[in-house]
Amino acid sequence: MQIVSTIAEVRTAVRALHTEKGSVGFVPTMGALHAGHRSLVQIARARCGAVVASIFVNPTQFGPKEDFSRYPRTFAEDCAALQAEQVDLLFAPEVATMYPADASTVVRVEGLRDRLDGASRPGHFDGVATVVAKLFHIVQPDAAFFGQKDAAQVAVLRRMVRDLNLPVEMILCPTVREADGLAMSSRNRYLSPEERRQALVLWRALQVAEALVKNGEQQSARLLDALRSVFASEPTARIDYLAVVDADTLLPVEDVRAGALLAVAAYVGSTRLIDNLILPSSA
Ligand code: PAF
Repeated sequence: MQIVSTIAEVRTAVRALHTEKGSVGFVPTMGALHAGHRSLVQIARARCGAVVASIFVNPTQFGPKEDFSRYPRTFAEDCAALQAEQVDLLFAPEVATMYPADASTVVRVEGLRDRLDGASRPGHFDGVATVVAKLFHIVQPDAAFFGQKDAAQVAVLRRMVRDLNLPVEMILCPTVREADGLAMSSRNRYLSPEERRQALVLWRALQVAEALVKNGEQQSARLLDALRSVFASEPTARIDYLAVVDADTLLPVEDVRAGALLAVAAYVGSTRLIDNLILPSSA
């Protein structure tokens, strides 16, 4: 695996990969890699001739009181994991490479930027859209791979790709879970053993939702009431948002329908976790 940190090096290396291996799949990450990231790389490897990954803890997607400085940085382990997954090229830029001191251009996906995580983390999706647009311009992949766990992020980025006519196929990949159901996340490592147990309430709520919908529940309001009761059984977990939304617009839907997104964010201790479920069709 070749590791590069400058934009010129990426461009040269990707040109060679295109020539030698055909299509290029791209897995952008902030490092602290886990089995969810590895599965994105595996899916990219199965679909594309070459795989490029990036590791960049993007400062512009963190709010002033968020965990940018303590976000886990595990570069050596991450490189070993990507190497084992046969990634061809890793782009790991410095902040100054991605954001010159006087950088003043921001990509804002109006409307979607304020929904779900965008409502509780103002400016977060501007940071995500801006850095992903820049990474797409730098790497110029044929396809990019994102996890279903970040469904709101995917909706924002899909809209950006459509609106800006970026020639990148967006591939949504299934959420990878621990054996007990907790969605893999780089932030899980913040949880104490007791919080780790409490965090399972997110998965329990999603399972209850799936069962209720399969048994015929058709109203979002009633479904959400039932899920609030599940959360009440774990009072240390604090709901940030819990909503049934259209998966493309992230706007609430009143009637549960197949393909709608049930999305949840909750604090367990000081750690904010997210998870979601694409709702099945009802009985
Ligand atoms: O999902 C992430 O890890 C980040 O939001 C991304 C897409 C790498 C942009 O910094």
